[in-house]
Formats: sequence, structure tokens, C-alpha cells
Amino acid sequence: MYLILLGPPGVGKGTQARFLVEELDAVQLSTGDVLRAAVREGSELGNTAKKYMDAGELVPDDVILGMIREKLEQLGDRSVIFDGFPRTTAQAEGLDGQLDELGRAVDTALELTVDDQVVIDRLSARRVHPGSGRVYNLIFNPPEREGVDDVTGEPLIHRDDDQPEVIRNRLAVYHKQTAPVADYYARRGKLVKVDGDGSVGQVRDRIFAAIGR
Ligand code: AP5
Repeated sequence: MYLILLGPPGVGKGTQARFLVEELDAVQLSTGDVLRAAVREGSELGNTAKKYMDAGELVPDDVILGMIREKLEQLGDRSVIFDGFPRTTAQAEGLDGQLDELGRAVDTALELTVDDQVVIDRLSARRVHPGSGRVYNLIFNPPEREGVDDVTGEPLIHRDDDQPEVIRNRLAVYHKQTAPVADYYARRGKLVKVDGDGSVGQVRDRIFAAIGR
């Protein structure tokens, strides 16, 4: 199964992907997490991506699609939850082309929706455990001990792109370049929309209902 999570920065794609991974016995493929790991390693991919990410701009499509091809080869027959990809119509077309070569296809694109102000509130208070990608929120979902991951006890970080001016640019980029991706899947009868406002559990229940779980 190939399920795509669409929606603006901070809508809760990473948070909800974890429930879907468990429910569908799938693998989460977050292009943002892969890029951040590459930045930490100082690889060529990371060096290319960093300047775009710090500014809240999109990394070029050919870089992302090369990365996806490699990951799909590694993942074989596993079901995949795509988190933060595709982000442009060109990426959606590229993914369809790559899956077509494998005799496969996207099953569902699930779009989470919230107002921009909710995004700004959530991201300003987000903290992340870089090693695992576990996500916390100082207001809505705080860690048990301030500043450290519940599982490993390692420090949490405030992402460089979660500063107010970068968040605003990420939202502008989303509305201009990524919103059309929902239309792409709607035209193919694959789009399901879910209200992303409400508690984490409420949103999870809506998603499961929308995909018949
Ligand atoms: P990426 O890492 O993909 O960031 P994003 O799409 O902006 O999404 P986020 O990770 O910020 O948010 P999320 O929706 O996962 O929300 P979360 O669950 O964390 O991309 C970063 C950058 O990498 C991009 O700007 C770009 O440069 C580059 N990039 C990545 N993919 C690319 C691609 N395909 N093409 C080109 N460039 C690419 O939740 C947010 C917060 O809210 C957390 O604190 C969480 O605890 C809290 N929260 C979640 N749900 C709720 C709820 N229901 N109620 C209250 N709080 C909640």
C-alpha cells in the first residue's frame, strides 16, 4: 500500500504517520527526516539541501526524486506512508512514473487541513528528538521531563526552520507550490480530506475512519 500524507507544515503529518505505520504495518518515508539526517552527516545531499531548508524553500525536484528512487529500491514490497512528499506536481508525476515502472500505484492521498494560525502556534512550540524523529509540543504534547526525549533521555531540539519568519515562508511556499498536489490526486479520484484541527487522538480517529480502519 502507498499512502501519501499531504498538508501544510505543522499540520501533524509526522505525528499521525506513526499511528498509520503501526496500523498498516508500513514504513514511514519522511523526505524532511531523510534530508535532515543528510545535513547532520554533512553528505553531498545534505550540503545541497541545507540552504533551501534553512530558508523554508523546497529542495529541487530532481534531488528529491533521486532520493525517492533509491528508497523505493531499498524498501522492496513494504507498504509506505509518504510524509512530506510529493510537494510539487512534478514530484507527484515523478512518483507515479517510478511506481509504474515497478507495476505499482499510489492508493490514497490523505490531505490534512488546518488554518495557518494553528500551524504557527504548533510549530513555534514544537520540539524534536533528532535521532528518532519523535515529535513533542511544549503546549499540546510536552515531554515527561523538560528538554529531553521520553525514551532515550537525549536532548530535544528546536528545528532551525521553526522560527516565525521561516514558518511564514514555508506556509507561503506550501500554498503556492504544494496545494496543487491535492488537485492532482483529486483529479485521479485518490484524494481524501481530513480536518486536522482537534486533539491528536481526534485527528487519528478521523483518519482511520476515512481509510476504513
Ligand atoms: P518537513 O520536515 O517535511 O516539514 P513540513 O512538511 O514543513 O512538516 P513538519 O515536519 O514541519 O510538520 P508535520 O506536518 O509533520 O507536523 P508534526 O507532526 O511535526 O520539511 C522540512 C523542509 O525540508 C522543507 O521546508 C523543505 O525545505 C525540505 N523538504 C522536505 N521534503 C521535501 C520535498 N518533498 N520536496 C522539496 N523539499 C522538501 O506536528 C507539528 C507540531 O504540532 C508538533 O509539535 C506536534 O506535537 C504538534 N501537533 C501535531 N498534531 C497536533 C494536534 N492534533 N493538536 C495539537 N498539536 C499537535
